[in-house]
Amino acid sequence: MKVIAIASDKGGMGKSTAAVNLACAATEDGFKVAILDFDPQASVGRWARLRKKLGLPPRPLVETCVAIDIKDRLEELRASGAHLVILDTAGRDNNAITEAIDSADLVLTTCHPTDLELSTLGPTLARLKTKKTKHFVLLVDWTAGAARRRVDAIGAVNRAGGVVAPVTYTHRADYRVAIENGKGVTEYQPFEPAANEIRSVWSWLHAELSMSGDNAEAHAAVA
Ligand SMILES: Nc1ncnc2c1ncn2[C@@H]1O[C@H](COP(=O)(O)OP(=O)(O)O)[C@@H](O)[C@H]1O
Ligand SMILES: [Mg+2]
Repeated sequence: MKVIAIASDKGGMGKSTAAVNLACAATEDGFKVAILDFDPQASVGRWARLRKKLGLPPRPLVETCVAIDIKDRLEELRASGAHLVILDTAGRDNNAITEAIDSADLVLTTCHPTDLELSTLGPTLARLKTKKTKHFVLLVDWTAGAARRRVDAIGAVNRAGGVVAPVTYTHRADYRVAIENGKGVTEYQPFEPAANEIRSVWSWLHAELSMSGDNAEAHAAVA
């Protein structure tokens, strides 16, 4: 079982949107996926309740969690045969961010390539500096063609000691509307650009996490 923490010290950076969409893409790929929602506002929990109400599949599994329970919950999920757990933290929840980072195989920090958002990365990068955990800043580009802005953002992240993921996704209405419909973009509009870009981010993560063994097991399990 692999664990991804989505962490930033600021809210509104797109963490829950990434958690939901990556979880849906990994589920579509045959993995047993759970999201642990640490946000007291439980936005992913609300999304899961909407799925239930609409009769959509109960996968990915979504559970709310508090920092103190994280290790026990991960053990339970491991025992239940989960392949991937995504920890969706809330900005400013110090304990949850620390525990999530300590429990993760890989940490992602979503960020738009704007000065305002990039300037909030400092505390998150400082947390990661002393850890061996893989960490990537996942840039959520405003438009697919904003290459110049992306290059500048990569420079800013690197100067702050961070690494930008070699894949990206963009700012599109589909991400918001899919969640409002209890779905990830791969379910909502499976053949549209948002679904394709999320699948490519998932595919990169899958390789970074060396999940090929789990993948074979997952495909055998769903066969
Ligand atoms: N790629 C995206 N495209 C369009 N809107 C997005 C995207 N990512 C996030 N949003 C919107 O930005 C807002 C904050 O996103 P959210 O995932 O809740 O952030 P966080 O979990 O970091 O607080 C939400 O209204 C969400 O719909
Ligand atoms: Mg959130």
